[in-house]
Amino acid sequence: MLDLTKEIIYQIYPRSFQDSNGDGIGDIQGIISRLDYLEMLGVSCLWLNPVYPSPGCDNGYDVADYKEIDPVFGNLQDMKKLIEEAEKRGMKIMLDMVFNHTSTEHGWFKRALSGEKKYQDYYFFKAPAPGGGPPTNWKSKFGGTCWEYVPNLGLYYLHLFDKGQADLNWENPQVRKEIMEVLDFWLELGVKGFRFDVINLISKRAFEDDSDGDGRSYYTDGPKVEQYLKEIRAHIGEDILTVGELSSVSAERCAAYTKPENRELSMAFHFHHLKVDYPDGEKWRLMPFDFNHLRETLHEWDMKMQEKGGWSALFFNCHDQPRSLSRFGNDRRYQARWAKLLASLTLTRRGTPYIYQGEEIGMTNAGFECLDDYRDVESLNSYQILRDNGLSEEETLQILAARSRDNARTPMQWRREGGFTEGEPWISENQNKRTVNVEDSLKDPESVFHFYRELIRLRKSSDAIQKGRIEMIRMDNDSIYAYKRSYGDEEIVCLHNFTENKLPIRRDFKDHQVLLSSCEKPDQTCLSPCECRILKKTA
Ligand code: GLC
Ligand code: CA
Repeated sequence: MLDLTKEIIYQIYPRSFQDSNGDGIGDIQGIISRLDYLEMLGVSCLWLNPVYPSPGCDNGYDVADYKEIDPVFGNLQDMKKLIEEAEKRGMKIMLDMVFNHTSTEHGWFKRALSGEKKYQDYYFFKAPAPGGGPPTNWKSKFGGTCWEYVPNLGLYYLHLFDKGQADLNWENPQVRKEIMEVLDFWLELGVKGFRFDVINLISKRAFEDDSDGDGRSYYTDGPKVEQYLKEIRAHIGEDILTVGELSSVSAERCAAYTKPENRELSMAFHFHHLKVDYPDGEKWRLMPFDFNHLRETLHEWDMKMQEKGGWSALFFNCHDQPRSLSRFGNDRRYQARWAKLLASLTLTRRGTPYIYQGEEIGMTNAGFECLDDYRDVESLNSYQILRDNGLSEEETLQILAARSRDNARTPMQWRREGGFTEGEPWISENQNKRTVNVEDSLKDPESVFHFYRELIRLRKSSDAIQKGRIEMIRMDNDSIYAYKRSYGDEEIVCLHNFTENKLPIRRDFKDHQVLLSSCEKPDQTCLSPCECRILKKTA
């Protein structure tokens, strides 16, 4: 039986994890060669970003064939082998399903373009607006309009993301049937989980101009998302783990999608805590993050999900976010401690934790200084938009260095020399590989890596952490993020010092037993700079 409270998921960005043949691109054989490392870490499931054939305009999120492996990553045999080898080590494989859109190179879209009505109905082809121009004023998530004109059809098609990613029309039962077949295909191969990309965008409400926004209210959490999710769940059954990526969702809706009784998703990614450094919700403007805002956001979501019976995917890093250590911690000073503090916040809250490749060794933003280093379509488009808005080259590059998704996509740092590839990596490595790497981490008992292992072990041994209630603890000092997890008689207290100063701890915790601390010798009366400490209440 699937038990979400026991899962710990590790996200692999295959392109940057391990290259096995020297072409500079990570691949499935590379992942297989690192399974012992992942087993040692103690995770239960590996989620892989898309590995399907794709022209690559959005690094594989533009899928041209849902039932194949892109030759740069290997083939179906390799995938089968990966599933078997992972299973031998007690880990399941979760694949990324990108069903809001297909690549415009997908066979369905090509047939649509060649005029086949049946396949045009797989997508949203619309006539120009009455006065000409795009059918609505909505904006693409990657900048510009989300409609692309096809001259020989005299129609526009919808793409909420890049123009190489055409939105699928889920209203069409034939589309849903195709999707079920794709799921069956991977289930048969032995896949045990699915991550559904931007899944709350699949049901479009109406095609009208948005008078006060970018269009998102017309397609976010649309009227039929829940019905479609129920269909999927009924089809794949209860033992398959699913996680939905939810864009701009409310806590109420998020809980509804993930409550067990509703039989929709096992859990969901939500992003409000990763917008606390966006001034007025704007990603491409810099602002330091506000600790209180971060804590209150996390807390509010933890409480609402608990009250309403939903289940969260807990994460601070993924392939779409700059590295959290550079963002919410400090990548120059006390690095290891900050990384451990963020690890504790990920692994001791209520939900299923996700570890993104490299965070377990404290990888940081690459902070590229030159435009040529960037690969990501969103970053490149944003560069252009910022420049067009009058920002200087220098200002623009500074923003990219902090905000680009490529910060999370640099190669995994296995050794001082890199160890990711024998060839030229598809994207530059972070130069701190000499000090931040797996090889050194394994040797150092105080490393971030070993702290993750300890935390994972602790989590597995504690009902309170895995499935207990969560409750905020108000501290005298406002810079400590503290909460309690409890189940039956077991009570665990988690303290996180979000400053680089020593801070006193409340008296009533002094008798608690220290289960884990990010400092070698925790001081009974004080938290050290950016220390996290996990305590257990004794009788
Ligand atoms: C999700 C993916 C992201 C991709 C987008 C479009 O947000 O995580 O990488 O660009 O969907 O598929
Ligand atoms: Ca390769």
